[in-house]
Amino acid sequence: MTKLMPEPYRIKMVEPIRLIDAAQRRAALAAAGWNPFGLRSADVYVDLLTDSGTGAMSDRQWAGLMTGDEGYAGSRSYERLAETVRRVFGYPHTIPTHQGRGSEQILFPELVRRVRGPRPVLISNYHFDTTKAHAELAGARAVNVLTPAATDTARYDAWKGNFDLATLEPTIRAHGPENVAGIIATITCNSVGGQPVSMANLAAVSGIAQRYGVPMIIDAARFAENAWFIQQREPGYRNRSIPEIVREMFGLADIFLMSNKKDGLVNIGGLCCFRADGELYRAVQARCIAMEGFVTYGGLAGRDLEAMAIGLEEGMAQEHLDARIAQVRYLGDRLAAGGVPIQQPTGGHAVYVDAGALAPHIPPHQFPGHALACALYLESGVRAVEIGSFLHGRDPHTGQQEHSPLELLRLAIPRRVYTNNHMDYVAESLISVANRIDQLRGVEFEYEPPVLRHFTARMRWAQPASAPAPPVSFPEPAARA
Ligand code: F0G
Repeated sequence: MTKLMPEPYRIKMVEPIRLIDAAQRRAALAAAGWNPFGLRSADVYVDLLTDSGTGAMSDRQWAGLMTGDEGYAGSRSYERLAETVRRVFGYPHTIPTHQGRGSEQILFPELVRRVRGPRPVLISNYHFDTTKAHAELAGARAVNVLTPAATDTARYDAWKGNFDLATLEPTIRAHGPENVAGIIATITCNSVGGQPVSMANLAAVSGIAQRYGVPMIIDAARFAENAWFIQQREPGYRNRSIPEIVREMFGLADIFLMSNKKDGLVNIGGLCCFRADGELYRAVQARCIAMEGFVTYGGLAGRDLEAMAIGLEEGMAQEHLDARIAQVRYLGDRLAAGGVPIQQPTGGHAVYVDAGALAPHIPPHQFPGHALACALYLESGVRAVEIGSFLHGRDPHTGQQEHSPLELLRLAIPRRVYTNNHMDYVAESLISVANRIDQLRGVEFEYEPPVLRHFTARMRWAQPASAPAPPVSFPEPAARA
């Protein structure tokens, strides 16, 4: 039997995409302030900015939109969603929200309000950027205790998303357990490459959380991909089904937050779910009504809830995950074969290029990952995003630019959207940029917004300190139009 693994679907509807020519790309990126976030999506050819809300829904999900119940309270679609959550995750209490950060904004203030100490902290393997922002908005410090294996991109490690168990307990004690508002397990760990967390690690963290009387929370955006890695890599799970592994993972936590825009296979939607019907759950419900909408719709239309219920099941399908993660690996393998350094192994939703290693001549404060994102767009119309010092930002107290431990370029792959021909195009384009990397210069701020700057900053090419020559126009794209 062939080893090829074609996509487990056929395509019923297509959306045309168009590659604008090199001069138009240059004009578009200049108008965007040399920041791919500012581009019009119509000017992007293959859009790997994010895998969030960019997936393709199935025919069943589209059909579900037609049967959504738009009742303000107690809609049938809510019932279906809550029943699915009960069956899939084992959590009896479901609050829908408009997306992941909607869940963060109703949960975190209530967690923080419950700490007994004066200096609240949330501890995570790694907080996603909005998660960190919401922790801070709620008055808590966001502390990451990620395995040191994660930052050695060239070295294979099966569990680069793991908590560093050697420092978790000392971190809790250093901050004082009375200050710890919660422990958040981000599965998979987006910020270092969609890297998985093992079941053993989750179980150990859960035990520690219990011992200190701290709530354990799962940030579940890419829960199904994490379960797939456990199935494939962790001893004892090879013959377990994805739903079984999901049940076991979520059995280790008290609360979960989810951005359903990723593994949940919808364009919009989130969840905030509780195991216990306690005072915390009810306080979060109250906040939901004020911030998101009544507790049975959470800022969504009834039809969205219907599509979410279907998407949760489809996102766990073995053949979907096999093909999905194989596509990510395919892109990673092509890049690595072309000499582009990437986070090894590839993770669940994206390939992370080690821009710091690829362009060591660009210092962190000139953002090699961001410069590479600009170069890639100029070369090919492919949009990607920096995950490094540009995103990391400044120390809130000193105003100093902080250096991220890794300078990465993320190529995030939307689910069920692109074919491997697109991946070949992306790989060839990036390899072509990499072959001229010594011509790439860094970028600097023309305008730096005070918060979440990477979304709306305007940049310019940095002048080399020693030779203030007129800017060479790197990379002057090849003849490809
Ligand atoms: N948690 C994780 C791990 C995420 O990756 C995201 C979003 C969120 C929470 C917030 O969810 O966007 O629905 O409000 N990540 C997207 C990304 C935006 O591009 O990685 P949201």
